[in-house]
Amino acid sequence: MAVPHIKTPPPGPRARLIVDRDRQTVSSSYPRCAPFVMARGEGAGVEDVDGNVYLDCCAGIATASTGHSHPDVVRAIVEQAQRFLHISTDYYHEGQVALGEAIAEIAPIEGRARTFFSNSGTEAVEAAIKLARYHTKRPNIIAFLGSFHGRTLGSLSLTSSKSVQRRGFGPMAPGVFHAPYANPYRAAAGASADECAEQCLAYIEQQILVHLVSPDEVAAIVVEPIQGEGGYVIPPRAFIHGLAQITKKHGMLLVVDEVQSGMGRTGKMFAIEHFGVKPDIVVMAKAIASGLPMGLTVASDAVMDWPVGAHSNTFGGNPVACAAALATIKLVRGGLMANAADVGEFLLGKLRDLAGHHEIIGEVRGKGLMIGIELVRDRKTKERAAIERDALVMAAFRRGLLVLAAGQNSVRLSPPLVLTKDQAQIAVRLLDESLAEIAIS
Ligand SMILES: Cc1ncc(COP(=O)(O)O)c(C=O)c1O
Repeated sequence: MAVPHIKTPPPGPRARLIVDRDRQTVSSSYPRCAPFVMARGEGAGVEDVDGNVYLDCCAGIATASTGHSHPDVVRAIVEQAQRFLHISTDYYHEGQVALGEAIAEIAPIEGRARTFFSNSGTEAVEAAIKLARYHTKRPNIIAFLGSFHGRTLGSLSLTSSKSVQRRGFGPMAPGVFHAPYANPYRAAAGASADECAEQCLAYIEQQILVHLVSPDEVAAIVVEPIQGEGGYVIPPRAFIHGLAQITKKHGMLLVVDEVQSGMGRTGKMFAIEHFGVKPDIVVMAKAIASGLPMGLTVASDAVMDWPVGAHSNTFGGNPVACAAALATIKLVRGGLMANAADVGEFLLGKLRDLAGHHEIIGEVRGKGLMIGIELVRDRKTKERAAIERDALVMAAFRRGLLVLAAGQNSVRLSPPLVLTKDQAQIAVRLLDESLAEIAIS
């Protein structure tokens, strides 16, 4: 699929019709970012219903990791679908056991890993919250400002990315305390990355755990090792290490949400591996099954100590999703993770070069193929260029490049891990042109 290839200025006539129909009957809550109406996909290319072909640097929010409709994944899905589509969690099937074993091999935790299966990131976070409370017999959770953990009521109580996601849905689950997330780019004036980490850790130890809640009543600290929806923010190493120390000291659990950053995207299987820390619970979803719905909550045998019937569901470990996940893990370990590291470094370098020509780029940051570009009106004051960011997403879309917004004023690139260096060059060229367009408009 040659990308991009724009036949009619998007959105074309068929896309427009479908978008209009969508407005009649589909929930008005979906935050659509561009009128792209998908017809098919292959690798990092996606075609809309008018025959326009785009380079996909979103992968359905970091999900279609093996590329669209990778033949190995499709084959695994078809073979499983021909045998059976569903068997509830009241019985067994081999695919679920095999996936549990595969996850135990790759999970970055101490001890033998056990997996709870669900269907989405938010459900996997819910399971982590319940497990942390159950195991520790403590009710409270510490989470971070700017974080995103999902939109069901338990996970939403941790989510604090945008107020619109919480507005009108209160009260939230009680016992959640939010701390600042260490963002070196937005550290207090003059503070180094390590000082920024220290200040955020001090807020937990000297404010939350002194004035608001006793440490022996906190079940867990839940953290994204790289903040996703919050703007692809990479914290200093000292921040994650400090969290591990706090949890160890007070008998809390460290829960890492790898829903967006996991499964090879950052060049390692899990982003937490960049920090050399072993968490107690790992939450996964999105890319685990290349786009089929699946969420996983993984903990050691010792932590996952809940009894039969304590937590379960109907669809968890769906056989088709398990088949897709097993094929996905094989592909990620068999080369895609290495490609993410290699092409990611190349892309990061080219995007940093772009910052030399476009004053609006405040920072380009990333690991592997999880890359954020933060736009600012002034590099000194770091005033957020939010309107310009939205304009950039649309300017890129019109040129045939799909990118998503993140945080208040960042653009995120989370392409399929099959992205080639040639395709990365194309993405950079289209972003360069789009940045030039928004600078003069
Ligand atoms: C880090 C993180 N956790 C949890 C979720 C929720 O996942 P889902 O949308 O599958 O419920 C997301 C979704 O973007 C996420 O990025």
